[in-house]
Amino acid sequence: MTEETVAFDVENGIAWVRFNRPEKRNCMNPALNRRIMEVLDGLEYRDDVGVLVLSGEGSAWSAGMDLKEYFRETEAKGLGAVRKAQGEAYGWWRRLRWYRKPTIAMVNGWCFGGGYGPLFACDLAFAADEAQFALSEINWGILPGGGATKVVVDLLSMRDAMYHALTGELIDGRKAAAWKLVNESLPLEKLKARVTEVANILLKKNPVALKATKDAVRRVAEMTYDNAEDYLVRAQEAANSYDNDGRKEGIRQFIDEKSYKPGLGAYDK
Ligand code: ACO
Repeated sequence: MTEETVAFDVENGIAWVRFNRPEKRNCMNPALNRRIMEVLDGLEYRDDVGVLVLSGEGSAWSAGMDLKEYFRETEAKGLGAVRKAQGEAYGWWRRLRWYRKPTIAMVNGWCFGGGYGPLFACDLAFAADEAQFALSEINWGILPGGGATKVVVDLLSMRDAMYHALTGELIDGRKAAAWKLVNESLPLEKLKARVTEVANILLKKNPVALKATKDAVRRVAEMTYDNAEDYLVRAQEAANSYDNDGRKEGIRQFIDEKSYKPGLGAYDK
């Protein structure tokens, strides 16, 4: 029987996807990387999925790449196998970065090295105070690759990113939140309730606007002000071509019906 490396359930509009190798601390082997791409594929266009949450079974979120199966065994097969394994890992992280639905990392435990790829790919991240994060690459003699260095440079201050990468020291969820590696940290027993609350906020919003917004936040970070202004005009007009009724309805319920205030919440879609 093949190991079920990824588990998922869909409940009330939320897809709960879990790394499912708890006995290996959810480290990512090639089988997991292939399977999770299939799972993401299957969930992306489902009408009953509005938000995707990524968490881990057991004590880990993910202990990074599988040092045995992803590195040692793959390298023994030669460069072609290495490139294929990298493509599979980086491929699902990229897919997740631009996913059609908003995504939330729910970091319940260990998060190391390669785990920073999917952590960054998720639009929002909430961690348990008890979770432990490290760029542990330096501890076993490599640099933080697979985008991990880019992730910390994008999210942390240069000093914190440098310290984190050079020392490989663990930080807990609280410090990860203080460093802005995650949005918030809270006690593990409250984590799922808070993530559900945030997912439910997102489920009330217009889904076309959510996808346009999440892409805009990532894209404009690399643009000049003028380029961003231009991109955002075009992105809104493109969104209108999919869903012009949504925004008209949003205006109507505020201006004509006076049934809600956009400053205080979402219109009734
Ligand atoms: N690669 C391969 N196997 C792993 C990994 C990993 N990244 N992480 C855990 N495992 C395996 C262990 O070898 C062990 O296997 P075994 O039961 O066959 O002996 C099993 O998972 C359980 O691990 P333990 O170390 O016994 O679990 P413990 O709870 O004591 O410690 C911890 C957890 C701290 C996460 C530890 O497993 C660890 O340090 N893992 C490596 C973390 C890491 O540095 N990952 C690489 C980051 S760099 C990168 O991703 C590119």
